[in-house]
Amino acid sequence: GAPKREDYCLILSIVFIFVTGVKCKSDVSLNGRTVIVTGKAYFSSLSLSLCANTGIGKETALDMARRGARVVLACRSKDRAEAAVLDIRRKTSNNQVVFMHLDLASLKSVRAFAETFLKSEPQLHILINNAGVGLVGKTEDGFSMGVGVNHFGHFLLTNLLLERLKQCVPSRVVVLASETYRMVGLDFSKLSRTEPGHTNGFLDYAHSKLCNVLFARELSNRLEGTNVTCYSVHPGEHSITWLMLILVPVAALLFRDPEGGAQTSIHCAVQEGIERFSGRYFSDCRVREVVAHARDDAVARKLWEFSERMVGLSAD
Ligand SMILES: NC(=O)c1ccc[n+]([C@@H]2O[C@H](COP(=O)([O-])OP(=O)(O)OC[C@H]3O[C@@H](n4cnc5c(N)ncnc54)[C@H](OP(=O)(O)O)[C@@H]3O)[C@@H](O)[C@H]2O)c1
Repeated sequence: GAPKREDYCLILSIVFIFVTGVKCKSDVSLNGRTVIVTGKAYFSSLSLSLCANTGIGKETALDMARRGARVVLACRSKDRAEAAVLDIRRKTSNNQVVFMHLDLASLKSVRAFAETFLKSEPQLHILINNAGVGLVGKTEDGFSMGVGVNHFGHFLLTNLLLERLKQCVPSRVVVLASETYRMVGLDFSKLSRTEPGHTNGFLDYAHSKLCNVLFARELSNRLEGTNVTCYSVHPGEHSITWLMLILVPVAALLFRDPEGGAQTSIHCAVQEGIERFSGRYFSDCRVREVVAHARDDAVARKLWEFSERMVGLSAD
């Protein structure tokens, strides 16, 4: 029969969500709290027009600063990060926004960052592992770039900061993943230091994102009872429906912005009452079920132990 009034309401609601994006509803203050956000500290108009969601790191940092937090931008480019620091300070009137150098493609740099941070910052309440690359090439330590930066760099960073997070409970770790985690199974040979020329940017990226999901799962298992919780996040839209296929390319190009892309990270960083979902995967500010190979606790544990050896946290 003819569409009913409720049908139009449903379609309009869906269109509204795609166009405006789901927003984190929490208005919690972060006064007196310290947050680290890794990754890009700015977004350019070029990247905005090509991919409406890039710049999630900066938007997340901006939101944390608006809530009154002390925010450490952990980035590799001093110039760009300092420009972002000034921009965020200006927009939020919060002078507690600082830059600290971190190159996740170098385990040495990760260790140096952690040392400087732990010496100079007495507290850490929220760690947001945001930086992510999908490039061909290798890290200083010989890992493929995607896996080295997105997984191993953040794995080491989180481990080195874990005691401080435990001292500052309730505290959280947010791990930026991606729906691309679905596209691969975990292949440990792909995670090892590979031979020259054997990297594939996209597959490495998908692998690293599967590692991110499994890492958050195992981290939460290890943190049970500590009041430190962690969450993995897909920052874009979650489900693929016929309507999304039509609307998303248009809506993403025209309407969605980095602020929208940052909402699920922000939600997992601050929303009260989600602690029982520690270790789970979120998108559109909601917990989602991951596919079977991304919720296998035995594989998650094996990845953890493998990663400890790769980054030198345990003997080879
Ligand atoms: N954008 C999306 O639609 C989307 C979708 C799914 C998942 N994600 C995930 O969400 C996260 C944020 O994505 P985004 O697109 O918004 O990225 P972004 O916040 O704009 O920037 C991520 C940044 O990571 C930084 N980075 C790269 N290599 C680094 C290194 N060696 N050390 C330190 N930082 C490094 C780069 O910053 P500089 O270039 O400034 O140095 C890079 O641009 C990523 O983990 C991404 O995988 C994004």
